Amino acid sequence: MNLPNFSSNPRSNTILWIVVAAVAILAGGVLIGAFTPAVLPPAASAEGQQVDDLFRFMLVIGGSIFLLVNGVLVYSIVRYRARPGDRSDGVPLSGNSTLEFTWTIIPTIIVLILTVYSWQVYTNITSVNPNERVIEVVGQRFAFAFNYDITLNDLPDGVTQDQLPENIRATFDAGDAVRFSSAQLHTWVGQPMLMQMRTEDVNHAFWIPAMRVKQDMLAGRQTEVRFTPTEAGVYRIVCAELCGSGHGAMAGEVNVSGDLIGAWLIVHQDEATYQREFFAPNAQQALFPPEDPALLGRQILASNRYPCAACHVVTDLGWNGVTGPNLNNVGNRAATRVAGQSAHDYLYESIRLPGAYLVPGYGNLMPQFNPEPDQPNYMPEEDLEAIIAYLLTLAEN
Ligand code: CUA
Repeated sequence: MNLPNFSSNPRSNTILWIVVAAVAILAGGVLIGAFTPAVLPPAASAEGQQVDDLFRFMLVIGGSIFLLVNGVLVYSIVRYRARPGDRSDGVPLSGNSTLEFTWTIIPTIIVLILTVYSWQVYTNITSVNPNERVIEVVGQRFAFAFNYDITLNDLPDGVTQDQLPENIRATFDAGDAVRFSSAQLHTWVGQPMLMQMRTEDVNHAFWIPAMRVKQDMLAGRQTEVRFTPTEAGVYRIVCAELCGSGHGAMAGEVNVSGDLIGAWLIVHQDEATYQREFFAPNAQQALFPPEDPALLGRQILASNRYPCAACHVVTDLGWNGVTGPNLNNVGNRAATRVAGQSAHDYLYESIRLPGAYLVPGYGNLMPQFNPEPDQPNYMPEEDLEAIIAYLLTLAEN
């Protein structure tokens, strides 16, 4: 290949070409760094901005190295190709200390810079923020549940302490918070969040792509993740650890009628909107649970405190799971399954001891829900009875 002559001095020619190539390579790296992040969802958290800046910086370096290595490769293939009839070997080459020193020291410096920068970002995004709001996240095959504490300070407007039902008052008197669950995580712009996460069964991973946070949820351990949303909106939450047959469904999705189901992060514009749209109505329901057990059971299931929606179909609740039995009309079927067993007892056993009776042709995929708080998949007796009462109403006449 004949390069155009910039000067009559071949040495300054080479230097000029190296400079031109270096500028082109760096410019290419900057272009790669500038445009690749466009494939990601826009960052909607303070942490996301820092993560994206780091990612862009790495792309500039990685992109430049990519262009350098491939540029040299392509140049060598063309420049040093075998000419027709040339059957000779190449020139024998051995050690070049300057070259070896250079290609050791430059990557070392790059890696050191990246280490310090990454460590800085990591400590920034994991450090404690003032006024953090703590939400307990529970992962369970195949759903997330978010638990919200209600304290005496957050009683909805117009509700006084002495209006509360007996058992709720007793909970407050004991110094405990009353809580409610939701399949969705709600907060507002600018509120620093701390997720305290645990799993009831296998490992899961909590991932909100738009917030740029992802953290494993490990069996037997509590893990944490922090983020501060900067944009109001609705963002998908995804399980990022293969956790079984329903792993793909352990996320937020939009069903055919356009409803959000499963795990979503909903960031309200401000705290007042959050209170009005989400917290107050849910707190009201939790503080004054319906007395009719079937209505209470419906409320419990709709809250996603238990991960039933991921597997079962209940049209009344908008569930469209695919791995478990369809529960529409289960009230009719339950009485006919096992001779001598009432519909109530059949449903009771199906939840407490799901392996005791299996409909012929089906395997046991149902988790066992246990009666004691220290057991995994804890479901108190009163929740179970309310759920059964509701399921029994799912019957055709
Ligand atoms: Cu939970 Cu995958």
